[in-house]
Amino acid sequence: MTTLSGRRIILGVTGGIAAYKAVDLCRRLVDAGAHVTPVLTSGALEMVGEATFSALAGERARTSLFNDPSTPIPHTVMGQNADMVLVAPATARIISDIRTGRSADLLTATILATRAPLMVCPAMHTEMWEQASVQENLEVLRCRGVHVVDPESGRLAGGDIGMGRLAEPATIVTAVQNVFAAGDLAGKRVLVTAGGTREPIDAVRFVGNRSSGRQGHALARNAAERGADVVLVTTDPRSAPGGVRVVGVCTADEMHRACREEAPRADVVVMAAAVADFRPRQIADRKLKKDQGTLSVEFEPTVDVLAGLGAAKPDGQVLVGFAAETDDVEHNAAAKLDRKNLDVIVANDVSKPGVGFEHETNEVVVLSADGGRHQTPLCSKDEVARAVLDAAVEALNRRTRNGRAVD
Ligand code: CTP
Repeated sequence: MTTLSGRRIILGVTGGIAAYKAVDLCRRLVDAGAHVTPVLTSGALEMVGEATFSALAGERARTSLFNDPSTPIPHTVMGQNADMVLVAPATARIISDIRTGRSADLLTATILATRAPLMVCPAMHTEMWEQASVQENLEVLRCRGVHVVDPESGRLAGGDIGMGRLAEPATIVTAVQNVFAAGDLAGKRVLVTAGGTREPIDAVRFVGNRSSGRQGHALARNAAERGADVVLVTTDPRSAPGGVRVVGVCTADEMHRACREEAPRADVVVMAAAVADFRPRQIADRKLKKDQGTLSVEFEPTVDVLAGLGAAKPDGQVLVGFAAETDDVEHNAAAKLDRKNLDVIVANDVSKPGVGFEHETNEVVVLSADGGRHQTPLCSKDEVARAVLDAAVEALNRRTRNGRAVD
């Protein structure tokens, strides 16, 4: 069992009859080591008492945005310090408020003021649960990375029996533990690019490079295992790992468009693809015949995808680039880190045996914009992926610690 020791959990309780079960949930979270701050809506106060939660949680329950003697802005203080916001029971009303971003009370304001993972545990009558509006709202929340603990079937208020009963407190505690156990990228969106782009010359030929895409795929797989919601933009979709969303591309231009589309929503972008720097200026739409003698192909530069992402980097996003070098490896990589506005760069000396393109192994130096440096030995691409993601998580924590940029 994962301990919740030291985890700061805001327990939002809304006005469903199942609010009485949140008392048991609160006690179980505290028993598992969590520091619980109960936040009760006015609806919840119709069902259960503030004093019960205050006594169980070890921290007094909060019920209002106003008149808090300790701070004039309780929602931002709580939101910034939380490791998770858990809403149990979650009524149809709060699910709708979360979807639309409505700030109606202390709980909804706190949910808006946090970057911590959010978990909702719906509980309502079957007819309400089955409404298309409720299901659609929950679908949107799921797509945004909110953890939803589905209700169970059983006895409901008024003696009815059906779907909509709050999940058992023990089940909810396990779901909370799973989020923390899932790893340091739980709830984060990670975009990884992989493989070498192919730039067409004619109807059958292309100019490419020796990248296999293995390092990018290892990064995507490891990020998913650490709990991230992963989008993999790859030139080799057939060998993509499971558990990630795959976007197949071929040329530098297609990779550019896919990244421009996906990157703004990502918390971490890892640009492991070997993007062509040049492409043929003209592409023949028929097969060029060899009896024409020599063939001259004029090349024009492609867009530097990574530099574009660096120039448009949203606040809080961590951008990771690669530098495949043969000379002055660290010096050239550090210059790229700076020039492309990166947070982390992964440099490898591809002139060394067993390193980089077409190999099962790699050996890298991971440099961070804050001066961090980590060197791996010659090792598997999975091990390199772990080192790269460690540096990305460190950068992410630094940038978004408690919802504030600190550097
Ligand atoms: N990259 C990119 N778009 C390009 C070329 C490179 O996004 N058209 C990205 C790569 O995915 C990698 C980083 O930029 O993360 C560095 O790529 P690299 O080929 O090492 O460097 P370049 O910037 O192309 O510079 P040079 O080839 O002169 O070393």
